[in-house]
Amino acid sequence: MSNKETGLTLVTGGTGHLGRDLVQQLLAAGRRVRVLARQPGSDARIDWARGDLSNGDGLRDALDGVTTVINAATFSPIAQRGYVRLIDLFRTPRAVDVDGTRHLLQESERAGVEHFVHVSIVGLDPKNSLPYNRVKLAGENLVRQSDLPWSIVRAAPFHYLMACLLRSMRWLPWWPLPNSVMQPVATTDVAAYLIRCADSPDRGMHDEIGGPEAKPFPVFAQQYLDIRGLRRRLIRLDISEEKARRMGFVAANGCKGSVTWRDWLLGHADEPKGKVRNTPIPPHM
Ligand SMILES: NC(=O)c1ccc[n+]([C@@H]2O[C@H](COP(=O)([O-])OP(=O)(O)OC[C@H]3O[C@@H](n4cnc5c(N)ncnc54)[C@H](OP(=O)(O)O)[C@@H]3O)[C@@H](O)[C@H]2O)c1
Repeated sequence: MSNKETGLTLVTGGTGHLGRDLVQQLLAAGRRVRVLARQPGSDARIDWARGDLSNGDGLRDALDGVTTVINAATFSPIAQRGYVRLIDLFRTPRAVDVDGTRHLLQESERAGVEHFVHVSIVGLDPKNSLPYNRVKLAGENLVRQSDLPWSIVRAAPFHYLMACLLRSMRWLPWWPLPNSVMQPVATTDVAAYLIRCADSPDRGMHDEIGGPEAKPFPVFAQQYLDIRGLRRRLIRLDISEEKARRMGFVAANGCKGSVTWRDWLLGHADEPKGKVRNTPIPPHM
């Protein structure tokens, strides 16, 4: 039997937005799935492994017998709380996306993992102005330097996050937004693509994945307002392509998902009103 039929896949971040879809789709395809989690869940179809990427606890046991790793864990304060604070423009924690990736790579090499699939974001380059993007790039670089057979999959911003960020602006009568192109994508589409990449014999940088439509941010914001029945004035800020790129506003280069922003909004009437996730954000943030 092929590895695909017999192998065990370890998913990190399996309790997160992307990770949950990833795990559901792997299970639906009949795969054996282990999830590394700080607080294991109760779904009996999953082989739960308790561990923490930031200090490496539990990783050795979690990787025992694993053939494929899909690293979908992250720590983004913006994604955690669902809105941006000034501090996010100056710093972001490295404990999960850099130190955690290093710990995971070391233990994966030791365990003889056959394919290490790393989830990243579109538009990363050393000139990025957002600290989170710089941290993601540092994590990617560790993967590239590793001796493991690796794949990196860059994804466009997820619909859930864009909806939370727009929701957090509801109290403002005017919405000043960069008039820059982006291509938001559904986590279900990213999960399906990641599984295809994990199964593929190809290694290295894969095509990026974005949603089916690349449009200026204010166009998506107007769709949000229309579907949520809100009236706000959009102020389009024209910024240079270079500056937009530094802020992470880019279209994805390659694979397109199928779920439109409009369809996603119609199917998710209630984006979270407060914090997006339960994980406490460290006090210094
Ligand atoms: N959000 C976006 O718009 C976007 C766009 C493109 C790419 N991505 C990438 O896609 C991936 C998933 O993003 P997401 O938005 O789905 O993330 P998310 O919902 O914030 O989930 C993060 C996951 O990481 C886990 N995690 C956090 N700290 C950990 C630690 N110390 N040890 C082990 N696990 C830890 C969390 O577990 P707990 O349940 O314990 O908190 C959770 O399962 C990331 O690589 C991200 O950079 C995201």
